[in-house]
Amino acid sequence: MSSPEFAYRVSPYRFIARYRNGKWEEGHLSTDENVILNESACVLQYSQNVFEGLKARKTEDGRIIVFRPDRNAARMKDSCIRMAMPPYPEDLFLKAVDDVIRANADVIPLCTDGSSFYLRPFMFGTDPVLGVRPASEYEFRIFGSPVGRYFSRMIKLRICDLDRVAPHGTGHVKAGLNYAMSLYAITEAHALGYDENLYLDSATRTYIEETGGANIFFITKEGKLVTPKSDTILPSITRDSILAVASGYLGIETEERPIALEEIKEFAECGLCGTAAVISPVESIDDHGTVYRFFSDVTEEESVTAKIKKVLTEMQEGAHPSPEGWLHEVTLT
Ligand SMILES: Cc1ncc(COP(=O)(O)O)c(C=O)c1O
Repeated sequence: MSSPEFAYRVSPYRFIARYRNGKWEEGHLSTDENVILNESACVLQYSQNVFEGLKARKTEDGRIIVFRPDRNAARMKDSCIRMAMPPYPEDLFLKAVDDVIRANADVIPLCTDGSSFYLRPFMFGTDPVLGVRPASEYEFRIFGSPVGRYFSRMIKLRICDLDRVAPHGTGHVKAGLNYAMSLYAITEAHALGYDENLYLDSATRTYIEETGGANIFFITKEGKLVTPKSDTILPSITRDSILAVASGYLGIETEERPIALEEIKEFAECGLCGTAAVISPVESIDDHGTVYRFFSDVTEEESVTAKIKKVLTEMQEGAHPSPEGWLHEVTLT
């Protein structure tokens, strides 16, 4: 079977739980992929929703493993709090992930060519509101979709003139509204031949933040991994993992600090990191016609980025030892 693209493909089962009268009801699996909502549901009028993204991988020996799902459960809780939503309990989140994987085990592709089963937990306010206030009823769902690689070649970024998030806003949580903010800019970027937008800090527009769907990192000419520190970017689980892989397994020095746009000409390598992007090497960043290129002194295959990617993907596929608690194997019976 050829590798699927990164797109929604309906799977047989999804998990649904409802919040009513101040508590979460017991959830269930459903074969119905449609959601029916009141026309004035809070999610439709005031965008009260949060989501997550994580991958289950089927190994050649038939195991299904999930990479650090506890971090997604914890981040979704943080997102809910910021969006005035009742968090779905973390232990039930993890149980629902397992339930969806088990129910859909037959459609999960082998991970050998970069394929996986992308799980999308999400939650939204369902009851009708007209005045601006949070909903009092919610739905938590998880669906899954077999996917392939997000980027299949080296990518081109451009510095974006629009902002995605605001200082003291919602950039550090995974709320749909952040992504709505990026749709105009990504449409324009694609039309101009770029793969993604690189956003700057919206307060001063001098520091690098992240792209619309992934964090960014650089490798200095001395081989150090540097990645932006900012309160307005999403705390990527992949980024947290590559920092640990680089320093703990490869002896690479790492640094998390604000990175000024004017520094990028100094860096040797650049990559995006995220659940969907995994680690995607960046070919170039275009800053209004000044194009900064990476990987010019080293081939992409021999780069520091490639070394980190190799260990990370082997860990995610269960083929390399990983820190205690990072891999969750789903029992299939
Ligand atoms: C805006 C944004 N930044 C970063 C990431 C990467 O986060 P993670 O590694 O947890 O998937 C994502 C994807 O989830 C994202 O949407």
